[in-house]
Amino acid sequence: MSDENKNCCSPETGEPTATRSSAPMWIIVVTLVLLFTGGLFLDSHSGWFDKNVYAPYQSREQLESIQPKSGEKQLLARGKAVYESVCGICHGSDGLGKPGQAPALAGSEWVMAKGASRLAHIPLAGVAGAIQVGGKDWNMNMAAMGAALPDEDVAAVLTYIRSSWGNKADAVTADDVKKVRAEIGKSPQPYSGSQLLKMPE
Ligand code: HEC
Repeated sequence: MSDENKNCCSPETGEPTATRSSAPMWIIVVTLVLLFTGGLFLDSHSGWFDKNVYAPYQSREQLESIQPKSGEKQLLARGKAVYESVCGICHGSDGLGKPGQAPALAGSEWVMAKGASRLAHIPLAGVAGAIQVGGKDWNMNMAAMGAALPDEDVAAVLTYIRSSWGNKADAVTADDVKKVRAEIGKSPQPYSGSQLLKMPE
């Protein structure tokens, strides 16, 4: 038997034998350290595998749409959503109104009134009969389209129409809406244009 296999093999048969020996300590320590740092790395880089972290975005707009918004942007986004679902059918997404259906909100003196009070009466109680909008005569009728909406939604939609399509006027607050709603009471009757004109803006 040569010197080389003195330790590996049975002295009687010369066959290799298995012996027990413990794994070296350093391998165990290094493995634990690697597992631990790997865990830390995943913790701080994985975003908990949230699909918002990994999904590629198709466009800048899409990415922007999920960003937190500032107070004003949030109000306008809400107002736009309310507008599109409640008012846009008649007044149009472009605010230009539709012949025979509804007057324009873009450029309307009713929308851009100094204060919010007179304007807020319109969605909360409705308008009926003769009304002049941007020099054009209308004589139709609009139900109280905003009466069923919460104050915040009415404020948001009025703020939206006051600052879209080139319109420029101050924001409307939920408090403004609340006051007008209390003034109108429980059973709103639609106003005529001349009644509205008698109210303070
Ligand atoms: C079913 C159609 C319809 C819907 C929906 C509707 N309106 Fe109107 N709106 C009208 C009509 C018609 C008039 C004019 C009424 C008249 O001739 O007396 C009007 C008038 C107005 C006016 C005053 C005139 C002007 O153009 O500035 C404002 C402001 C207004 N609507 C805002 C809104 C808002 C805000 C909503 C959503 C909450 C809304 N409307 C939803 C049909 C509609």
